Amino acid sequence: MAEGVAVVSEMSWRDALDGAERALAAAGVPSPRVDAELLAAHVLRVPRARLLALGELPPDPAAHARYRELVARRVTRVPLQYLLGTAPMGPVDVAVGPGVFVPRLETELLLEWGLRALVGLTKPLVVDLCTGSGALAAGVAASRPDAEVHAVELDPDALRWAGANLGDRVRLVEGDVTDPELLPELRGRVDLVLANPPYVPEGTPVPPEVADYDPPGAVFAGPDGLAVIRPLTVLAIRLLRPGGALAVEHDDSHAIAAPAVLSGHPELTDVVEHADLAGRPRFVTGSRVAW
Ligand SMILES: C[S@@+](CC[C@H](N)C(=O)[O-])C[C@H]1O[C@@H](n2cnc3c(N)ncnc32)[C@H](O)[C@@H]1O
Repeated sequence: MAEGVAVVSEMSWRDALDGAERALAAAGVPSPRVDAELLAAHVLRVPRARLLALGELPPDPAAHARYRELVARRVTRVPLQYLLGTAPMGPVDVAVGPGVFVPRLETELLLEWGLRALVGLTKPLVVDLCTGSGALAAGVAASRPDAEVHAVELDPDALRWAGANLGDRVRLVEGDVTDPELLPELRGRVDLVLANPPYVPEGTPVPPEVADYDPPGAVFAGPDGLAVIRPLTVLAIRLLRPGGALAVEHDDSHAIAAPAVLSGHPELTDVVEHADLAGRPRFVTGSRVAW
């Protein structure tokens, strides 16, 4: 045992990273090098870019042991963000863990589109439907200090995470976005509605991080995956002011179906489908007709 500890303490970080990458790859983790580096950066409390200089670091048995423990948990497919404790969304990191959906990097595209839609507006009114950890609402609030931001969530566990992440800066509402009567006080006034709702068709195979950790109600939405997007669109139309903008993330199988949901409402115009950086259909946008 003592011998094993000595071996670990003398291991260079480069060797530790290479070993972690091999273990993660063997476990089927999709981006093993990135995960190995992010976990090392987390343990060493340095930016990931600084890892290149780690060859010169003195041995640190405690840090190596902590690293091995985190890599071992990631090998069992515990989500990377649970181990890091946070997930990024644009300019903010939100706290995540058991009971809440882990924000995905591709959702930053939805945030960026929404922020562009607000350019030129002062004190914009923004609603994040299905806020989960509060990631999108937090991203808007941090990017636009003048914005009034409301966030809606149904699940009590997610509401706890969102409350901790959003504090007093965002008004957090416990509510069901399939209820067209929600937020009556905002009706016809909202400049931007953002939504990353559950959208995966039930029965779709998902990776272990999703199947075992993301709450099912955050992921799946009926046989075709549109069970929340359809009624959510009705609510969004009621909330938006004339000319207000709507952006909804969707499954990559919804390139036709999601735009069709929005186009099916004469109150919406300029319906456009957007791909993510990998070229996969990712979100749809539209705007409230200016009657
Ligand atoms: C895919 S997660 C997205 C969370 C967050 N917007 C993000 O991008 O990380 C969907 C969230 O919608 C919530 N949700 C599902 N159905 C809902 C409903 N009918 N009303 C309100 N929230 C709902 C889930 O609890 C979950 O937190």
